[in-house]
Amino acid sequence: MTGKEFGVAVLGAGRIGMLHAENLMAAVPGLTLKVVADPVPEAVGTARERLDVKGEEDWRVAVQDPDVDAVIICSPTEQHAEQIREAAAAGKHIFCEKPIDRDLASIDELLEYVEEQGVKFQTGFNRRFDRNFAALRKRTVEGEVGDLWILKITSRDPELPPPSYLQVSGGLFFDMAIHDFDMARFLADDEIREVTACGSALVSEGTKEAGDIDTALTTVRFENEVLAQIDNCRQTTYGYDQRVEILGRDGMLMADNERLDTVTFADSSGFHRQTLPHFFLERYRNSYARELEQFRDALEGAPVAVSGFDGRQAVLAAVAADRSLRERRTVALEEVEQDLKDGTMARRGDE
Ligand SMILES: NC(=O)c1ccc[n+]([C@@H]2O[C@H](COP(=O)([O-])OP(=O)(O)OC[C@H]3O[C@@H](n4cnc5c(N)ncnc54)[C@H](O)[C@@H]3O)[C@@H](O)[C@H]2O)c1
Repeated sequence: MTGKEFGVAVLGAGRIGMLHAENLMAAVPGLTLKVVADPVPEAVGTARERLDVKGEEDWRVAVQDPDVDAVIICSPTEQHAEQIREAAAAGKHIFCEKPIDRDLASIDELLEYVEEQGVKFQTGFNRRFDRNFAALRKRTVEGEVGDLWILKITSRDPELPPPSYLQVSGGLFFDMAIHDFDMARFLADDEIREVTACGSALVSEGTKEAGDIDTALTTVRFENEVLAQIDNCRQTTYGYDQRVEILGRDGMLMADNERLDTVTFADSSGFHRQTLPHFFLERYRNSYARELEQFRDALEGAPVAVSGFDGRQAVLAAVAADRSLRERRTVALEEVEQDLKDGTMARRGDE
């Protein structure tokens, strides 16, 4: 660490914005939370009260604040593009929650502009910093299982989001599986070549009415022919299920779920263990603090740990998965890239 303090604005004081703001207050030396912005007065009030920090209802005022060197974008996804552009124009470094946007052409324009402006950009794929998945990646790239053959990612939420969220989430592939596309790329250390997605609305009628799915199996083939299977569901009876398995020529690596504690109670009815952390805020708490430390390091001159390109490639996979689901066929990412080049892809708002 250089000892320099960077002033930070958090844009959006919802679930993830408040978590990042609290982490900044408590656990990330080198980053100082200067202001929290949210258009909802109650959200600003809560942030002021809980964090004893300046609150703004107009996010533009926070971006322009001379004490702010960097922004952490935690607003709803459809707000990200405008905020990235404005922050980059003001010369502010950017940490942006996933997905960067749902429109690939827009992401490409934004990342080019960010580059031109010379500001740092990190994508919020926090799971890379989870201790289990970070260890899996390290041991995999060190060659412990030899040549990779199969990755299996299980990523199931404990409960459906509220119907209002389903309307704006952009769908399971963009909102939920996006983390898993990134995890697959991270663990395989390779680019995805093609995607075959299968999905259903089994958990609730509401999902179907929203035109979405709540259960999906997605098969991924990487450029190097390695295969990955991603298993997503929006509901379980037993908590937030987050596991990964990696099969290779020399063995298997497996990261199991975290438990609330490791105590086992045994009686005549069996062996009983603690349940799983309820959801992402509990399960991934440490990884959110670590990704901000990485952002601090990037501001101090280190390479960005999760780049805009990483954010883009996960969205590319989500676009292919969405197309695969709708057209019931395998979709090569190259096909989506070609449509993007030809300008034949629907842009945000076209549909
Ligand atoms: N990395 C992760 O694990 C993770 C987890 C949850 C959400 N997210 C992402 O974070 C973003 C926010 O999700 P959330 O669950 O916190 O949503 P949320 O609905 O809980 O919070 C969003 C907040 O942004 C505010 N807001 C609306 N328009 C705004 C604007 N123009 N400027 C600033 N604030 C604005 C809303 O009033 C609300 O308080 C989404 O992009 C989502 O995909 C990432």
